[in-house]
Amino acid sequence: MSKSEIRKEVLKARLALSEQEVAQKSAAIVKRLLALEEYRRAAILMAYIDFRNEVRTGELIRESLAMGKQVVVPLTDTRAKRLMPSLLLNYPEDLAPGAWGILEPAPGRLRPVEPAKIDLVVVPGVAYDERGNRLGYGGGFYDRFLPQTRPDTFYVAPAFELQIRPEITPGPYDCPVHCLVTEERVIYTRKNLLGKGR
Ligand SMILES: Nc1ncnc2c1ncn2[C@@H]1O[C@H](COP(=O)(O)OP(=O)(O)OP(=O)(O)O)[C@@H](O)[C@H]1O
Ligand SMILES: [Mg+2]
Repeated sequence: MSKSEIRKEVLKARLALSEQEVAQKSAAIVKRLLALEEYRRAAILMAYIDFRNEVRTGELIRESLAMGKQVVVPLTDTRAKRLMPSLLLNYPEDLAPGAWGILEPAPGRLRPVEPAKIDLVVVPGVAYDERGNRLGYGGGFYDRFLPQTRPDTFYVAPAFELQIRPEITPGPYDCPVHCLVTEERVIYTRKNLLGKGR
């Protein structure tokens, strides 16, 4: 199956989840993520703002701010295909709809953060395999962004079980994740054992 066929199939299955399924599974995933050693150690984390039927990140963001962690969210530059990390102080007040209707820092609430300051990135995606290979939406935004972080920055991908596929064949720029968290399990991937750069 080609990348675009897998994207289409997984997005269709994810869009078919009910509101209640998305809410329940997201709660289970966020609970597991909050318990991860790497999350607990992180002083500053970047999180995506969920869209459509992505695993919800609202509670993760609220909880992180309440715990005194610094939370960073991406501003999308669609022309340059780049993400600009921005410090989030008030959730959701600092956000307004941006590219594709996804919430992002509102004009005047942009507080740029150096990618090298980020300890952990909560990565969005369409499909993954158990080795941490990742299929995104096809823009290469995260594949351009992740190499700007530190060698020890931890990448965790919240995903529903239906997003885990037997095999995703990575291309030259594809950045794998260290850990997958689903409603059923936590998967530390191959990348975690071999370190960055595969
Ligand atoms: N670091 C990079 N430098 C140059 N081109 C890149 C880089 N990363 C990705 N690309 C290019 O961007 C395009 C989209 O990449 P890909 O299909 O892997 O997107 P994706 O991983 O699904 O998207 P995203 O990272 O936004 O979730 C490809 O043509 C890829 O070669
Ligand atoms: Mg990619």
